[in-house]
Amino acid sequence: MKHTIIAIDGYSSCGKSTMAKQLAKQLAFTYIDTGAMYRAVALFALRNHLIVDGEINLEALKISLKDVKISFCSPNADGKADICLNGENVEKEIRGMEVSNTVSIVAQVPEVREKMIDLQREIANGCDVVMDGRDIGTVVFPHADLKIFVMADAGIRAKRRYDELLAKGENASLEDIRKNIEMRDQMDLTRPISPLRQAEDALVLDNGLMTIEEQNAWLLNKYQELKDAQH
Ligand code: DC
Repeated sequence: MKHTIIAIDGYSSCGKSTMAKQLAKQLAFTYIDTGAMYRAVALFALRNHLIVDGEINLEALKISLKDVKISFCSPNADGKADICLNGENVEKEIRGMEVSNTVSIVAQVPEVREKMIDLQREIANGCDVVMDGRDIGTVVFPHADLKIFVMADAGIRAKRRYDELLAKGENASLEDIRKNIEMRDQMDLTRPISPLRQAEDALVLDNGLMTIEEQNAWLLNKYQELKDAQH
């Protein structure tokens, strides 16, 4: 039986994970957060002092990559599986500002991308998946059944992220978050391998002024259209 792959790509802090997670739950698909995988590698690099003052020790990182084991724990009741780094659940740690500030550097390393892409294909093998990231519809699964490209104004994204961090009791500055988002957009768009770009056959979702319910309804509608077209 052919499995269905839904690729959700787009700018950082667009709420891709939230929508992908919810959609996966409704369709009883496996949800794969590929950003979390790059974040876990960044955490590994930080912990092992392979990134110091924003400078990456490329050679050392490439050598150490064989010691990086990324996996997903068993899903919780919501169907969301936390990310593990060498068997340790690091879901909380990868969301902090230190990792957010360095992950784009790590995500530009070809060897890191190669390893993550192989793993993403392996995890998706044999199941229906909703996978979110930057290059899912363009590189990881260019033949995905449904491709969504998500965008929203940078100011709106910064405010959402700010509210999220405050709700978690973390200290944050709206200005710093906006700068971080703009810096990440720039790096995602301009990196030489797998830059963020919209696949030609992707459907664009600008969710800046949409509620979560509205965007979920939009996604379910696109999935239904896909199913109708397949019959
Ligand atoms: O979606 P996120 O913010 O958790 O992603 C973290 C970083 O990882 C982001 O800077 C872009 C990078 N990333 C990537 O290069 N390719 C992916 N498929 C997913 C994320």
